[in-house]
Amino acid sequence: MNNPVSLTQFLIEEQRAHGSLNADLRLLLEVVARACKRISIAVSKGALGGVLGEAGTGNIQGEAQKKLDVLSNEILLQANAWGGHLAAMASEEMDHPSLIPGEYPTGGYLLLFDPLDGSSNIDVNISVGTIFSVLRVKEGVEPTCEESFLQPGTQQVAAGYAVYGPSTLLVLTLGTGVHVFTLDRELGSFTLTQRDVRIPEDTQEFSINASNRRHWEAPMTRYIDECIAGKTGPRGKDFNMRWVASMVADVHRILTRGGVFMYPLDAKTAAQGGKLRLMYEANPMSFIIEQAGGKSSTGRERIMAIQPEALHQRVPVIMGSRNEVERVVSYHQDN
Ligand code: AHG
Ligand code: MN
Ligand code: MN
Repeated sequence: MNNPVSLTQFLIEEQRAHGSLNADLRLLLEVVARACKRISIAVSKGALGGVLGEAGTGNIQGEAQKKLDVLSNEILLQANAWGGHLAAMASEEMDHPSLIPGEYPTGGYLLLFDPLDGSSNIDVNISVGTIFSVLRVKEGVEPTCEESFLQPGTQQVAAGYAVYGPSTLLVLTLGTGVHVFTLDRELGSFTLTQRDVRIPEDTQEFSINASNRRHWEAPMTRYIDECIAGKTGPRGKDFNMRWVASMVADVHRILTRGGVFMYPLDAKTAAQGGKLRLMYEANPMSFIIEQAGGKSSTGRERIMAIQPEALHQRVPVIMGSRNEVERVVSYHQDN
């Protein structure tokens, strides 16, 4: 590519073009990108780095942690401790928010992350990723307490994800479109490779764990059955199905070529509100999807409008190509 634009140059230009980005937020995003580079290196070493397998511990959500879940969490915490841009951090892998160590100054932002998304894929060498979300410290609330993080997704000032796949990508939104950076391993820096990504409005591809079919609600069964019926069914066209089981990889495919990603409410996860986490997965991914012209809903409400009640809250997720998500939502309304 002629005249490649680095992440740093991109952020400086954004800072000049839109008032939305200040020096602290720029530092925060560069630090997160650097942490993602470290995670990418650890992931790519695989068995040679001794990073595969179980950590032998569990997180607050009762899930067994992999070594890479713990390591990625540590990398993000350490990278973000010293810059003076954060007041606190929250992670899928930590029971409570993590405070900035006393020797460092604090700042006006809160960082939330799913340090390693798709952990079940680590040991089988399939794409995994990191998802993050940035909020401002709320006025009048102690920034380090859980309550300060409980802001709806509409309040996010930035969100993004890294995918550790054949290439390592960083996908970022600051509320002014979605941009993709590819890690140049020789240079060691993220280079802008796609500006202003737009999700196709229509699709013939869906992404769902179909083994949960018997647990779904009627609107979801209806939607999937109609897709599977193909050309001779009510949709009058054939559909394709893909499920990587790493949200980052599935959502990235949808961002690139359209589709609809669903982890709907089902009888198995109803008691906890759904499977995916609002603060670490659903909100940041919804921000990206909406900024790329797509839609994101629980089936009953816009995900980014939900007032969170708990840090580790879970929600049903239906996101992707606009017309398809609208259809799934309309089936929930009919029900
Ligand atoms: P995590 O590895 O952070 O716990 O997230 C896994 C999530 C998500 O990435 C993926 O879409 C989904 O769980 C897969 O769930 P199933 O194994 O039920 O298909
Ligand atoms: Mn995840
Ligand atoms: Mn995770």
